[in-house]
Amino acid sequence: NRWKLAKRVGLGIVAASVFFYGVSIYNFRHPDPKQPFPDPSKKTLVILGAGWGATSILRTVDSSLYNVVVVSPRNYFLFTSLLPSTATGSVHSRSIVQPIRYLLRHKSHFVRFYEAECSDIDKDGKTVEIRRKTSDGQEFVQQINYDYLVCSVGAETQTFGIPGIEEHGCFMKEMWDAQKIRTRIMKCLEQAQFKDLDPETRRRYVHFVVVGGGPTGMEFAGEMADFINADLKSWYPELANDFSVTLIEALPSVLPMFSSKLREYTKSLFAKTNINIRTQTALKKVTSDSIIVEVTDPEVWAGGNRPRPLIKNLIESLNEQTNRRGLIVDDYMQVNGMPDVFALGDCTSTAYAPTAQVASQQGAFLGQLFNKLGSLDFEKPRVDRHIAIGEELDSAALISLANEKHASTKVFRPFKYSHQGSLAYVGHEKAIADLNVPFLDKQIHASGYLAFFFWRSAYLSELYSLRNRTNVLLDWIRTSLFGRDISSL
Ligand code: FAD
Ligand code: NAI
Repeated sequence: NRWKLAKRVGLGIVAASVFFYGVSIYNFRHPDPKQPFPDPSKKTLVILGAGWGATSILRTVDSSLYNVVVVSPRNYFLFTSLLPSTATGSVHSRSIVQPIRYLLRHKSHFVRFYEAECSDIDKDGKTVEIRRKTSDGQEFVQQINYDYLVCSVGAETQTFGIPGIEEHGCFMKEMWDAQKIRTRIMKCLEQAQFKDLDPETRRRYVHFVVVGGGPTGMEFAGEMADFINADLKSWYPELANDFSVTLIEALPSVLPMFSSKLREYTKSLFAKTNINIRTQTALKKVTSDSIIVEVTDPEVWAGGNRPRPLIKNLIESLNEQTNRRGLIVDDYMQVNGMPDVFALGDCTSTAYAPTAQVASQQGAFLGQLFNKLGSLDFEKPRVDRHIAIGEELDSAALISLANEKHASTKVFRPFKYSHQGSLAYVGHEKAIADLNVPFLDKQIHASGYLAFFFWRSAYLSELYSLRNRTNVLLDWIRTSLFGRDISSL
């Protein structure tokens, strides 16, 4: 009887899972038809970007309250946390991207998307200029009016103007960077086959130099060591003794955001897996004579962030903006000196680290703020009797009026970041985790296989959609069964 009951419960769980999966797939492929766009009675909310910050706003904001327009030069969201895995082929590139139109089509009301770059913001005329270049050299330029504007354009990779890095190095920021790294690795390996090569040149072809001991550099170094040990050594046995990975860090220590215990753990793990860490070693120049990138040494540059040109120009044009690292914003993420313009994530300069965790919490906060602003706007005369019907108030005035009126409860509370912890993969099926446990008011430090299992579960659950989760899970299974692909595509 017990066996029968267990069988029934088991079958019930399988049937429920299949049903849930089926409904999710049906919903994925059949979004509801949308209301016509635009509605002149509503304000226009323009969002620049399709990354962590922007998609988090889009998920939260009520699209029935605004005419929402999204502008981004790439039409997909990139799950950056698994980008180092795609550079070595442990995970396929398409598994970690989600088309932005998927998200937009599942909103209750129509949301317009332009695959274009915002090239200018006119704060007085309340317009943005967007540009799109076609492959035959044509350029589309368009102005879009906004009532509220959100800048979530992220940042570029910092190079500190080091000569040669743009020409000889590979960045680790966008999907095309990861693809470039992969192709470059495979081409170097094939070049190293030529038997007339002197041993020194051959070793250089398979010497991988990673610059920057932040989490991006460390995760890539760990992935690279896995690729070498699990796949490349057996596919290229004649090079087995020549492979090497060196990580260069200018500061005295790598991974400054992790606890000292986990930093030591990572260093000892890297020593065991033959990753040579050189701290207090700053890269100054990359030339064809330099040992680091001589001719074809595949070098990966993971040296931090710098503002994009759009943000740099804004900072230079505004007296209120005094920090060159990013836009200064207030507690409601309103940009200093730009009424009705908000900014979040890596394009801002705040007390928080430039992470996906911060950008997505800020995005959720802004989404809710717009929902409140949207509903207040409709009832404007009721917010404060002193406001004449039809009188335009900017977001700052609306927020402070509403807070004044409801002083005891406060309609709008300032943004508060809640740090959940830091996680990083360090290779050899091991990870490190500094986790905050709010109810214990304590931090847990974990490393090794258990942390690796947690890392995988956390990233799997954070991935954008069921399609992404299914693909990444299948990629991990594929890699452990068949190894990584070694074609030089
Ligand atoms: P992004 O996510 O970079 O999005 C910017 C968007 O703006 C993009 O869609 C871009 O196409 C668009 N855009 C650019 N220029 C324009 C323009 N002119 N007009 C309109 N749109 C524009 N953080 C973590 O917390 N955990 C991690 O595990 C983690 N792993 C990472 C791994 C790597 C390899 C990297 C590079 C970063 C990682 N980060 C991680 C950091 C995290 O990715 C960033 O902090 C996060 O992406 C910032 O979000 P954002 O929305 O500000 O910018
Ligand atoms: P980073 O700014 O954290 O680290 C860059 C490192 O490069 C610094 O340690 C810096 O000292 C070093 N550097 C700069 N110039 C150098 C030079 N010339 N020579 C040698 N070393 C040099 O940048 P990273 O790793 O790209 O991360 C960016 C942001 O994304 C960070 O906020 C990080 O926390 C976040 N992130 C988080 C991850 C996670 O939580 N797992 C993974 C990847 C990124």
